[in-house]
Amino acid sequence: MLQSEYGLNGASHTGKSITLLAIESSCDETSAAVIRDGRVLSNLIANQKVHEQYGGVVPELASRAHMQNIVPVVDQALQQAGVQKSDLQAIAFTQSPGLIGSLLVGASFAKALAVALNIPLIAVHHMKAHVLANCINEPRPSFPFLCLTVSGGHTQIVLCKDYLDMEIIGQTIDDAAGEAFDKTAKLLGLPYPGGPLIDRYAQQGNPSRFRFPRPHIPGYDYSFSGLKTAILYFLKEQTAKDPSFIEHHLADICASVQQTIIDILMQKLIQAAEDTGIREVCIAGGVSANKGLRKALQEEADKRGWHAYVPEFQYCTDNAGMIGYMAYHQYLAGQFADLHVVPSARGDWKMAEA
Ligand code: KG4
Ligand code: ZN
Repeated sequence: MLQSEYGLNGASHTGKSITLLAIESSCDETSAAVIRDGRVLSNLIANQKVHEQYGGVVPELASRAHMQNIVPVVDQALQQAGVQKSDLQAIAFTQSPGLIGSLLVGASFAKALAVALNIPLIAVHHMKAHVLANCINEPRPSFPFLCLTVSGGHTQIVLCKDYLDMEIIGQTIDDAAGEAFDKTAKLLGLPYPGGPLIDRYAQQGNPSRFRFPRPHIPGYDYSFSGLKTAILYFLKEQTAKDPSFIEHHLADICASVQQTIIDILMQKLIQAAEDTGIREVCIAGGVSANKGLRKALQEEADKRGWHAYVPEFQYCTDNAGMIGYMAYHQYLAGQFADLHVVPSARGDWKMAEA
């Protein structure tokens, strides 16, 4: 839908501030943020603890928790930003990809609020918003930049030519990097989500203590399912010999697995940077919070003369701040959604550009 259909007076051209409310509910975090002129004024994130006991996100429980959280989270985001609902120019929400029930809660809430306030709706692509999380704060990468987006459901190398012009040049053909962390954690008896715990134990461990295979996949694509199987058999074999193997070697196992995942991720990113000649290199998504990965990126940057960027921690895992930041650029471009817009679990990379 075009800006003119909403009777907007071109706020961006008149120098008037643009204040947006953004809602993120794609998985198990209920988040709301207020963004003014591309600056994040508040970014509230409610984690859902209910999934820990199940070792993974239970979709039905996630939807119910979103329904409980969304009103207080939105209220707090507005309050913290010092903004009234009547100050808002548009409502943004995550349209895709994600868990369909979870997405529906955010989409329905956003639609209802947009109708009640008679302001436009902006449908945002979650993975693109992860990429733009790198642009929220200074220093910002300049275009074109490469972004390795690593989350619980995705592993992608994205060529970002402009705020709303991105292309996936490589991605996983099976598991995502975050899944590799979480599944390893599960095999080690650690609770969900295991990524942050592996990160923590890895800091005390020896990354060269155990060696796991690195896959040979053509191009810039990734594969992590072989690693998962290799770790499973390795642990079976070792615990058959010594039942306390995991307990005694937890830090070294975590450090070695983490190093393997980082090596696999960095190898393709380096290849993409060399082939394209792009030296602005970013990481994004939940796994970009990983200390080892952040360090590896900086080391490669120092060695190769890249400018490396990592989002602030609050913008790495799922958050509405990044959704609002992307929505701000969609607002400037007049990319609004109509009320018939529906969430999509898989998500179409092209959809948000339409
Ligand atoms: O982007 P995100 O919050 O949600 C999705 O869109 O999937 O990413 C969640 C993933 C989980 O797999 C989690 O274990 C992983 O990010 N993660 C980490 C760290 N923090 C979160 N993995 C490794 N090290 C971390 N510090
Ligand atoms: Zn995400």
